[in-house]
Parts: sequence; structure tokens; C-alpha cells
Amino acid sequence: MKKSAVISRKHMIKLLNQDLAREYQAVIGYIVYSQTMKGAKFQHIAGELARHATEELSHAMQIAKQIDYFNGTPVTMPRPVKMSAKAEDMLRFDLENERVTIIAYRQRIRQAEAMGEFALSEVLREIIVQEQEHLTDLANALGIDNPKFTE
Ligand SMILES: [Fe+2]
Ligand SMILES: [Fe+2]
Repeated sequence: MKKSAVISRKHMIKLLNQDLAREYQAVIGYIVYSQTMKGAKFQHIAGELARHATEELSHAMQIAKQIDYFNGTPVTMPRPVKMSAKAEDMLRFDLENERVTIIAYRQRIRQAEAMGEFALSEVLREIIVQEQEHLTDLANALGIDNPKFTE
């Protein structure tokens, strides 16, 4: 893993708030997609998406807690959620969001380590394990390989 420069607590709060807005986006996306996805062949994955929604809520709670610990204020707005009537589109939107989320958390873990904030890095490691599972569930449902991560 690449080393990261030490960032300020203020900068970390800003970055964690971007992560939080992404977690809110994930909660909303998974709620809406799990309930609107049509077609017998998507029934199983729709159930998985409903489970992802509850895990994303728990991530949001943990990230908000860390922001408060750094004396920041958690944001209240999600990143925008794309909508489509097509199940494949929904799965692709989720896959892309998970991919971006994993890249962001990999960077955040390095930054937390560089700051000596080991409790934060451990929280993020537990979250990233679930994000990777989400990514795999989505790739399997789409019948594709997991996206490659180069860094
Ligand atoms: Fe998440
Ligand atoms: Fe996720």
C-alpha cells in the first residue's frame, strides 16, 4: 500500500463528510432499487440489495460518529441517486458507486494511519470488507468479473 502524507483533522473531517454523503446515497439507492427492481431473474439480488441498505445505514452511522469524534459536523445531504426502470442499469449504478467508495476508503485508511488515528483506520477496514462483498454481489448478478483495483 502507498504511503500517505499527514493531513490535518480539518481536512479529514471534510473527506469523511464526502464519504458520509456517499453512504447516504448508497442507503437510498439500495432502498429504492431493492423495492422497484422487476423481473423473476432479479428477485434474489433484490433481496441482497435490501440487506446492503441496512449495512450502508450502519456505515453512515459509524462515519458520522468518527466525524463527531473529530469535532466536525456530519453533512445532511446525500450524493445524487440515479434512477432507471432497468434492473441492469440499477446494478451498474450500484457497482460503480461501490467501486468509487472502495477507492475512497482505501485512501482514507492510509490517511488515518499516517495521522496515527488507528481506531479510525480499523473502523474503515471493517466497512471496506462489506463494500467489497457488495461489489462482488453486484458483479455476480451482472455476470461480470469484479472491477480491478490497481492502486
Ligand atoms: Fe457503505
Ligand atoms: Fe456498499
